[in-house]
Amino acid sequence: MSHRPLPNFILHGGDYNPEQWPREVWHEDVRLMKEAGVNVVTLPVFGWVTLQPNEETFDFEWLDEVVDLVHANGISVCMATATAATPAWLDRKYPDVLRVEESGLRRKHGGRHTFCPHSENFRRLSTDLARRLAQRYGSHPAVVLWHVSNEYGNHCYCDLCAAAFRRWLQGRYGTLEEVNRRWYTAFWGATFTDWEEIETPTRNGQRAFQGLLIDYDRFQSESILDAYRAERDVLREVTPNIPVTTNLMGAFKPLDYHRWGREMDVVSWDSYPAKNATPAENAFSHSLMRGLREGQPFLLMEQTPSQQNWQSHNALKRPGVMRLWSYQAMAHGADSVMYFQWRRSRGAQEKLHGAVVEHVGTAEPRVFREVAALGRELAALGDLPIGARVETKAAVLFDWENWWAVEYSSGPSVDLKYRAMCLAYYQALHDQGIVADVVSPDADLSGYELIVVPVLYMVKQGVAERLEAFVQSGGTLVTTFFSGIVDENDLVHLGGYPGPLRRLLGVWVEELDALTSSERNAVLFSGPLGTLECGHICERMHAETAEVLATYEQDFYAGEPAITRNAFGSGEAYYLATQLVPHALSRFLGDVCARRGIKPVLSEVVPGVEATVRVREDGKRLLFVMNHNREAVTVDLPQWVQQDALSGDKLDGRQELAGYGVLIATAT
Ligand code: GLA
Ligand code: ZN
Repeated sequence: MSHRPLPNFILHGGDYNPEQWPREVWHEDVRLMKEAGVNVVTLPVFGWVTLQPNEETFDFEWLDEVVDLVHANGISVCMATATAATPAWLDRKYPDVLRVEESGLRRKHGGRHTFCPHSENFRRLSTDLARRLAQRYGSHPAVVLWHVSNEYGNHCYCDLCAAAFRRWLQGRYGTLEEVNRRWYTAFWGATFTDWEEIETPTRNGQRAFQGLLIDYDRFQSESILDAYRAERDVLREVTPNIPVTTNLMGAFKPLDYHRWGREMDVVSWDSYPAKNATPAENAFSHSLMRGLREGQPFLLMEQTPSQQNWQSHNALKRPGVMRLWSYQAMAHGADSVMYFQWRRSRGAQEKLHGAVVEHVGTAEPRVFREVAALGRELAALGDLPIGARVETKAAVLFDWENWWAVEYSSGPSVDLKYRAMCLAYYQALHDQGIVADVVSPDADLSGYELIVVPVLYMVKQGVAERLEAFVQSGGTLVTTFFSGIVDENDLVHLGGYPGPLRRLLGVWVEELDALTSSERNAVLFSGPLGTLECGHICERMHAETAEVLATYEQDFYAGEPAITRNAFGSGEAYYLATQLVPHALSRFLGDVCARRGIKPVLSEVVPGVEATVRVREDGKRLLFVMNHNREAVTVDLPQWVQQDALSGDKLDGRQELAGYGVLIATAT
């Protein structure tokens, strides 16, 4: 048991911003919260200026009142440190707090998340506020969780950051010669002759050196993490028994969340899928977040109950879809269902963003009723899913630094987007009913049977050895084109692609051809897979020790190997030198899984139906089946399933699910 126990019930609630409303409304809020089955509120995320109207003055009384009020009504508090939006007085008094953007321009006061991670004034004032909150509320029985800041994100390019970057480089590489070597500054005569010449890579500055850009991203991700750690450490010091989190954003490029996950007691994240997001895309994000702490359940900190306001077209979640997506999050490891926000703001930026309480202010709207109905179900589920881990045999490897590197690379194709590639492989598995984790290259791979490694362009030290060890001991690996090209500094692994993966894959890649989005080739298998369409990238490769499974159909490389399999130790490693179109990729991976005996959760794969199993520490298994279709479907349940966990009804084999319906089931 950790010293910082997580809540043992499903958190249901969300962001509550009472400072926007007069006191009468607070009492109505709490009455409605109880009606909606809300058991937790997150406050005061943007409350800094209200808590500290100037440097010398603090006002916690309003917050005392809110905390006592919700507590008296049985509602817990997820307490934010309120440092996500700096007060206007603070920015005016300490201009170094304001971040310099990539354009090179310093921000003026406005918006939120605008601080520089190396501003000492920000550090001092933010940790001071965190300390006061911890001292004041740390022993309040309502407080179950700390929520540091909010959606950390933006990189800073100011002079303080430049100085800190130079120190960071000195620590990492020692000498300037080494920096020059790692960044390959002999190119275009860019050699640095003095540390002071190294500046932040603003848009009007030095951006031709991928090694520099990647290091700057590493440095900023780490610097912003330091800002989080500084507040977290204060909280841990004052309240060693309350767990700490900060809300993340899924596949968010600027921060290397694998490093962040380690620093949190529980991962939490905000899920805002676009209108056309596929179920697999949502599942991918949840799996990525679950992978940040090696499969530990996470919290769904925010989702909109109805619609966003910042997409180009803010669709309503159709009746049933909010419930469906909430359970989808739970099916993938969430132990909470939380919303942004409780009550729709009357004015400003987010007045048209969905909320549990609409502007009409009553319990009548559809959205409120759907939230309340879900609240009743979650209460009935009690602690059933809490702590249970998602069962998987397959994983997709995802690496933030590789993401930066692939997309800083000039060539081979502007269409080469790393997240989209990882999602394509995750989607192909998902289409076959295979539940996959999404893990970092440092994760423990030993429990998996299949690891899919899309576009691992950057192979850092130790990674090839880890993948080799995985295959050696019987694992199946699938990797793709544009892998093994560079090291951690974006320097090419000389001596033939895919560099350190060459032995494992048994191929030598000679050239890379990039196709436009409308151009296609095909690969021909000798076996039952027949001819499958491909495009995007076509590499010309030579099978060294690998067996050729498929060859190109067209172009000057027709007849040359396109897909290979290499026996290695007791396992095997597949290489796809080209990108199969989605249905083809799905067939190919389906075939790999079938050969390997990796089975979907449901015996029959029904399009649009997703299923996962979560297993509790006591061995109890929970089946989640989600019907993402508008129409009803019938599914065959696994034999061990006997009881509907929501209704208590007995189940026997076949089960109908309504359109957007969900089934949660157990053995007894
Ligand atoms: C983010 C923020 C919230 C709110 C929502 C709106 O997730 O954390 O404060 O702005 O977006 O979608
Ligand atoms: Zn800065």
